[in-house]
Amino acid sequence: MSKSNPTLSSIIPSLLSWYPARRRALPWRTDPTPYHVWLSEIMLQQTRIEAVIPYYHRFLEAFPDVASLANADDDRLMKLWEGLGYYSRARNLKKAAEAIVRDHGGTLPKTADALRKLAGIGDYTAGAIASIAFGEPEPAVDGNVLRVITRVLACDDDITLGSTKKAITEALRTVYPSGKDASDLTQALMELGEEICIPNGRAKCELCPIREHCRAHAEGTVERFPVKAPKKPRRQEKLTVLLLSCRGKYAIRKRPRTGLLSALWEYPNASGWMDETTVAALLRENGIETVSVVPIGEAVHIFTHVEWHMHGYAAECTAEHPDLVWRTPAEILSDYAIPTAFRAYTARLKEEF
Ligand code: ADE
Repeated sequence: MSKSNPTLSSIIPSLLSWYPARRRALPWRTDPTPYHVWLSEIMLQQTRIEAVIPYYHRFLEAFPDVASLANADDDRLMKLWEGLGYYSRARNLKKAAEAIVRDHGGTLPKTADALRKLAGIGDYTAGAIASIAFGEPEPAVDGNVLRVITRVLACDDDITLGSTKKAITEALRTVYPSGKDASDLTQALMELGEEICIPNGRAKCELCPIREHCRAHAEGTVERFPVKAPKKPRRQEKLTVLLLSCRGKYAIRKRPRTGLLSALWEYPNASGWMDETTVAALLRENGIETVSVVPIGEAVHIFTHVEWHMHGYAAECTAEHPDLVWRTPAEILSDYAIPTAFRAYTARLKEEF
């Protein structure tokens, strides 16, 4: 793709006149401070807008500004993120807030280059904050924008390649406006990708403000773009998950500090599938005597690179083993962040509650 692209220049005025009438009233748009834009962009990565909205409000009630986030209690932070997934996003938010307080006097730096140095802020988020909150002429290229632009240009480069993203970012950067137009253009591209030039299902070209500039539309090839190399299959893991109870309290434990779902809480579990007898024997080897072991169903959770295929058992134990944390269902549900991966088993606790 050439660096200065006349088609990309030509879509900008149409997007800028379309956006004001079309923009959805989203909470982070009513008061788009740098902190609000940052938080919303982090929450919106991998998560649908409707799912994000209640989390966004709760989070801002708890941590209304950068300083309060920098001082956040880790368990409270994780509890507020519970259910949103990709928990490293929350940890990085706090880490970046600490750096903003330490190195930038408590306010977000204004340039994409300085923003990129903060934990959890990559090219996309740096571009989104810089353009939306500060009016810098910096594009924010995510999957939506890649889809829109590859269709407009009928570009068949593989969008899973970093080189494609880089070329599209560069091409947009050369034509990007500044000030309010930068803010509106970033959001217009997102809006178009989410509402019109949609990822699943037929694109709503009849409603598109830039269809006259769109090469794929003219050639009737919209559905062929974007071109994406197939993903590697996810690793499949079998797990046995245990709801251990002892006189109304249930066992949880903290996951290791590194790796998948690090430092979140979980029900004791072991790799592989087991039957009731094996579960009872494994628990006995670990110093836990059971009076009953009953199956409570299967569940699947799909992460980005791995799938968990879980078999669950409820086991009533004779004593509270000291290596585990024993709490009532009410305490677990209100105070401990248990990832959505265990939702099927958390639902059992809710029944007890
Ligand atoms: N998707 C990602 N960021 C967004 C934003 N700021 N508004 C709407 N949708 C988005």
